[in-house]
Amino acid sequence: MLKYTSIAFFFAYVAFAAAFEETSLREILVEENVVEFTKEEIPLVNDEKQNTKRYEPTWKSIDSRPLPSWFDEAKFGIFIHWGVFSVPSFGNEWFWWNWKGTKNAAIVNFMKRNYPPDFTYPDFAKEFTAELFQPNEWADLFKDSGAQYIVLTSKHHEGYTNWPSNVSWNWNSMDVGPHRDLVGDLASSIRNRTNLKFGVYHSLFEWFHPLYIQDKAGHFKSQSFVARKSMPELYELVNKYKPDIVWSDGDFAPDVYWNSTEFLAWLYNDSPVKDHVVTNDRWGTGIRCHHGGFYSCSDKYNPGVLQHHKWENCMTIDRHSWGYRRNANIQDYLTIHDIISTFASTISCGGNMLMNVGPTKAGMISPVFQDRLREFGSWLKVNDRLYQGENFVLLSLIHLNVDNLF
Ligand SMILES: *[C@@H]1O[C@H](CO)[C@@H](O)[C@H](O)[C@H]1NC(C)=O
Ligand SMILES: *[C@@H]1O[C@H](CO)[C@@H](O)[C@H](O)[C@H]1NC(C)=O
Ligand SMILES: *[C@@H]1O[C@H](CO)[C@@H](O)[C@H](O)[C@H]1NC(C)=O
Repeated sequence: MLKYTSIAFFFAYVAFAAAFEETSLREILVEENVVEFTKEEIPLVNDEKQNTKRYEPTWKSIDSRPLPSWFDEAKFGIFIHWGVFSVPSFGNEWFWWNWKGTKNAAIVNFMKRNYPPDFTYPDFAKEFTAELFQPNEWADLFKDSGAQYIVLTSKHHEGYTNWPSNVSWNWNSMDVGPHRDLVGDLASSIRNRTNLKFGVYHSLFEWFHPLYIQDKAGHFKSQSFVARKSMPELYELVNKYKPDIVWSDGDFAPDVYWNSTEFLAWLYNDSPVKDHVVTNDRWGTGIRCHHGGFYSCSDKYNPGVLQHHKWENCMTIDRHSWGYRRNANIQDYLTIHDIISTFASTISCGGNMLMNVGPTKAGMISPVFQDRLREFGSWLKVNDRLYQGENFVLLSLIHLNVDNLF
């Protein structure tokens, strides 16, 4: 606690010096060579109240929608990767693909050593029990972390849906595994107990879905998978759970195949969340970092210089995996120092930080993750004045000097 307080004192001193000298904080910091940028500013985002403009299913029109301001103000969110991959919890959440797709030796051997030869990936699903899942406890933990929003994997590339989707027969959390609506249960706890916004991650493609494989073989001229799987899922998710964020991923095919702009036009014009929903940019090959809502570009994107479009750094506490893995050692987890430094560099350049935890198959968020979330929450409480409003400059200061401040 002492070190956080001393950071706060240091900033108080700088602020005081600025007031006394009647020069702006920014001028002092520029003089001291602490910040490099002076003229650029993060573009202001418009108010949540969207006008009555209707959007066309074109990127030009979709891109013209102002980003709801809550997202820029939020700065910090929690990403949650949870699914059938949490059962083997070995390697990372690409387990199925690493096993059967690329035939990664470590994964193939892990399966040979520990499972009978006829064991299939879908066999893991009945062990995805979530018997210790207490969504109220998760909600309280996320609130204590200082996060303003969460994003839960509703479906990862394996195709298993964490809600009872009617287009994912026998491959969803109600039919096999927890026998619960994980998305719905977490959404109600978050909304009952906190003011956090609730977002859903959704993978467009699925590694092994026969219809996807068929469409792909035909160079994405047919849209069977989109018509019967990805599009109905997106409509289901939005209509049923009214998410504040639709975080798209797995867009390894053209946007015209996914009908991305058609979906987004509906989302912005006619959906139940049209006025406040935000989306990212992973809506088709070549679209990332160019079109859509905020930019998420690549995983752990952190450009290090001020950006002129709202962006997000999605990153993980476990350096090597998004999903929970039992073969993680303590040095694989970011320290609180790493987290504060990443946060500072991210938001001083106009980004939000979306920090990932991977719960266990039983539904626990492991004590290491809990520790980092709560410690970061304590830091934010002490330092909240530093990162709100105009204080990008102060954050740059932390960003550039973080090693000297500890
Ligand atoms: C799935 O449910 C939606 C309503 O939630 C309904 O409109 C649709 O027809 C259903 N689809 C199937 C395949 O049952
Ligand atoms: C949230 O509140 C609603 C209405 O008060 C209640 O029906 C529901 O059970 C609550 N959910 C949780 C998870 O506490
Ligand atoms: C995609 O959009 C086009 C144009 O609106 C439409 O004709 C087509 O049916 C849509 N396909 C799917 C799978 O939704």
